Amino acid sequence: MKDILPSIQNRFSAKSFLDKEIAGDILDRILEAGRLAPSAKNRQPWRFVVVRDLQQRQKIAHAAYNEPWLIQAPVHVAICSTNIDYKTPNGQLAYPIDLSFAASFMVLQAVHEGLACSINTTFDETEVRELLTVPYGMRIVLLLILGYSDDKPKERDRLPKGRIVSYEHW
Ligand SMILES: Cc1cc2nc3c(=O)[nH]c(=O)nc-3n(C[C@H](O)[C@H](O)[C@H](O)COP(=O)(O)O)c2cc1C
Repeated sequence: MKDILPSIQNRFSAKSFLDKEIAGDILDRILEAGRLAPSAKNRQPWRFVVVRDLQQRQKIAHAAYNEPWLIQAPVHVAICSTNIDYKTPNGQLAYPIDLSFAASFMVLQAVHEGLACSINTTFDETEVRELLTVPYGMRIVLLLILGYSDDKPKERDRLPKGRIVSYEHW
């Protein structure tokens, strides 16, 4: 029951990746974790575009201002929306929330499998859209960069619980 917390504690944003492939079954389980994520009204407004081809990854890295770890990592997953209009009953756009759940589940499965990852939103969306033939109007919410890494988790720079949690009242 308590097994998930170590994966959460072990997750960090990797800034370098080893030259090591990700086995197909591991990648499948990561994608399955995303597939099973919850979404508003269960609309599942996502498409996960997996990029393993070196040339494509190099082009994505170029669109992401040539961050070196993007070129090193063997797999990029573009977390894309398939609907950008739907709002939750309390008036919020659903897709960023839905896609964040899917990405979070994938990240945790990746860490659980011994992988490292980084989340990237610093990229030219138009350039990546063209590369991956993402339809006009759909958003590439983030790039999930996956691979093995020798990087070590940094000290967690997080607000203390007393600042972010309250009970019964704000
Ligand atoms: C929505 C989102 C967007 C992010 N975009 C980037 C990014 O473009 N480039 C980057 O280096 N890190 C990016 N990050 C990683 C954060 O900077 C990182 O999670 C944060 O500094 C905490 O560090 P940690 O992940 O090592 O715990 C992003 C994270 C999130 C959740």
